[in-house]
Amino acid sequence: EVTGVQTCALPILGYSITMAQETIDTNCMTLTRFILAEQKKHAKGGTGDLTQLLSSLQSAIKAVSAAVRRAGISQLFGVAGDVNVQGEEVKKLDVLANDLFINMLRSSYASCLLISEENENEIEVETERQGKYIVTFDPLDGSSNIDCLVSIGSIFAIFKKPHEGQLAPGDSLQSGRQIVAAGYALYGSATMIVLSAGHGVNGFMLDPSIGEFVLTDPEMTCKPRGKIYSINEGYEEHWEEAVKEYVKSKKQGSNPYGGRYIGSMVADVHRTLKYGGIFMYPATAANPSGKLRVLYECMPMAYIMEQAGGLASDGQKPILDLVPKKLHERSPIFLGSREDVEDVLAVIKKHRV
Ligand code: AHG
Ligand code: MN
Ligand code: MN
Repeated sequence: EVTGVQTCALPILGYSITMAQETIDTNCMTLTRFILAEQKKHAKGGTGDLTQLLSSLQSAIKAVSAAVRRAGISQLFGVAGDVNVQGEEVKKLDVLANDLFINMLRSSYASCLLISEENENEIEVETERQGKYIVTFDPLDGSSNIDCLVSIGSIFAIFKKPHEGQLAPGDSLQSGRQIVAAGYALYGSATMIVLSAGHGVNGFMLDPSIGEFVLTDPEMTCKPRGKIYSINEGYEEHWEEAVKEYVKSKKQGSNPYGGRYIGSMVADVHRTLKYGGIFMYPATAANPSGKLRVLYECMPMAYIMEQAGGLASDGQKPILDLVPKKLHERSPIFLGSREDVEDVLAVIKKHRV
C-alpha cells in the first residue's frame, strides 16, 4: 500500500522500444540536458546563464537548419543584392541566418554584446535585456557553397564581459584564452553541433523527429597525425615558400597524403577533427593576413581543436594567444592533428631564420 508521495528511488531507467522500425530512446542525452549536467559538474555556483545562452543558440541553429533544408524550395538561394562589410556579395541565407542569430541571442537575456561577420559594428544588446556574455559568430559559413548544395555551417565563440558595469570600447577584443565556450553547427547530410565549454569536445546530432540535438559523438579527439591535407591549391603561386615546400612534401613519396578541400571552413575543420590531418588557409597576395577572421572563425575552431588534443597556429604562435585589434581582423591559420601542424611550423621556422 503506497502512503504519501513515493519518491523515485530507482535510477533513471533508459530503454529503447522499436516502434514501426523507429527506436525511441527514452533516456537520450540531449544537448540541453548535457549542458545542465556540465554546469552542475563544473560550475557549482553557476547562474544558468550559459545554459540559457546555449539554448538560444540552439534555437537559432535549428531555424537556420530548417531554412537551409528548404532554401531551394523557398527561393532562398541566390544573392540578397548587397555587399557586406567584407566586400563579399551577401546571399539571402546569410541575411536570414544573421537575423536569426541576432534575435535569438538578444532575447536570451544572457548576452550583452554581439559581433557578427555580417555587421560592420558590434551590436550592443539593450540594457534591460543585457546578460554577461559576449558572443562572436559567423552565422553562415561557406556561403559560396549554398547554391550548389555543398555543406555549410555556423560558427560561434562565447566570452565574458571583462568587467562589471557599462560596456566599454574594446570589450570584444579579447584573447582567445578568455573563451568560455565555442563551437560550430554543420548543415551537412545531417545537422550537427560540435561544442566545447572547456572540458573536452562533444558532438550532437539534430534528431528532427524530436527537434532536439542528441549526444552522438562523446569526447571527440583529433588523432595525433592524419593522412589528409586541406588547402586551396589555386593560390599556390601566392603562398610563402615554406607553405609551397610543405604542401609539395605531402604529395611526395610512396605514401602521399590525400588532398581534400570543400571551401566551407566548418566542413573542412569537421573532417579534420573526425579523420585527422591538417587544414590551412595561409596568407596570400590577395589576403596578406589570411582570409579567415580571428574572432568568429579562427578562434572558435582553434578552441575546439586544442580541446580535442590538436593544434591551431597562425604560423608563429597559437591562434588562441592572439588579441585582435579590430573586430574583423584576419589571420593565417594552420590547424588539425598535432604532429601535422608541428611539421608545417618547423618548415615555416626553417624558412624564417
Ligand atoms: P564565409 O562564407 O563565412 O565568408 O566563409 C568562407 C570562408 C571559409 O568558409 C572557407 O574556408 C574559405 O572562405 C574559403 O575561401 P576560398 O574560397 O578563398 O578558398
Ligand atoms: Mn565563414
Ligand atoms: Mn559567413
